[in-house]
Amino acid sequence: MYRRAKEYLGSDWLAFQEMFRESIHSDVLLINQVNAYLLEHSGKQLRPLLALLAGRAISGVCNDRVVRCAVASELLHTASLLHDDVADDSPIRRGSPTVMALYSPSVSVLIGDFWLSRGIDLILMKCDNQVIGYYARCLADLVEGEMLQLEKAGSLDTTMEDYRTIIYCKTASLFKAAMMTAAHSAGASAEQMQAIESYSFHLGMAFQMMDDIFDYSPQLNTGKPVGVDIVEKKLTLPFLGFLHNAPRDVSSGFVERLRKFDMNSCKEEEKKLISSEALSLVERYKGLEYAQECLDREIGKALESLSEFNDSPVWEHLVALAQHMSVRKR
Ligand code: FPP
Ligand code: MG
Repeated sequence: MYRRAKEYLGSDWLAFQEMFRESIHSDVLLINQVNAYLLEHSGKQLRPLLALLAGRAISGVCNDRVVRCAVASELLHTASLLHDDVADDSPIRRGSPTVMALYSPSVSVLIGDFWLSRGIDLILMKCDNQVIGYYARCLADLVEGEMLQLEKAGSLDTTMEDYRTIIYCKTASLFKAAMMTAAHSAGASAEQMQAIESYSFHLGMAFQMMDDIFDYSPQLNTGKPVGVDIVEKKLTLPFLGFLHNAPRDVSSGFVERLRKFDMNSCKEEEKKLISSEALSLVERYKGLEYAQECLDREIGKALESLSEFNDSPVWEHLVALAQHMSVRKR
């Protein structure tokens, strides 16, 4: 799926890869060692892929500034994960040990800072103020999303509106920044910017909803651990589906149990118990079906946004990517 879009992008994708690798080079051996590990375990590189597709949707070939926006999106994304793994104390990412577990939390935070600085450097050098503004807002959104998530883990009163704010900030905002900065740098009109904004927003929301579905789907074998969100008291979409569908006494009974639960002082068995109970409640009260319906509504809206680019070759890739978001397994 992603491979086909990367093949379509051809030399633009290669230009991204080259600039990306150059941008993280350092004279410090430890930085290059950790970088080599990160490159070996890199992910789908979906954000730069979307940025370059946005560039192509506006003009036939991606200029240097579009490629810079694509690279910046991957640098910022990885920086945020390196920080997030420390915040979440996560031992595993993409099936391999995290930098935090392999080296130390300090190394993870500092390498994250390095990637973030290089991302900012790349856009400051050649891109205009609008691009810098989009990324500055996005960085603030990422932090606000994480902080609101922490706040809500304390109060355990996440509403659907809170959930949507959190996933917009932590995920959709970077999808939007990647695509809008690229489209702007390619010379998009106001109508084209609006279409890209709407597509990237809904796609980003759907992407995070699927990630949250994975956490309640042991049968999918995504390579991600399951049942972690509830232990961290993150009330995500499948759980909100359970709260929505279950009788009041069942839902508030479980939330009260969760309120008394303290992941830092409890035994491993207790964590397993609370997480398996949440998984079975979500299954019994059709939380996953509820989440999938919400996700599919986002995909529908993302697809509607694309009429501006009807029938162009890049349109097919944007459509295919949106459809894939509804069924992806990783
Ligand atoms: C993963 O979420 C985390 C994010 C998408 C955003 C993290 C943002 C920060 C830590 C703010 C600081 C940002 C920068 C750029 C320094 P998750 O924990 O739900 O998903 P996971 O299962 O992949 O860890
Ligand atoms: Mg995390």
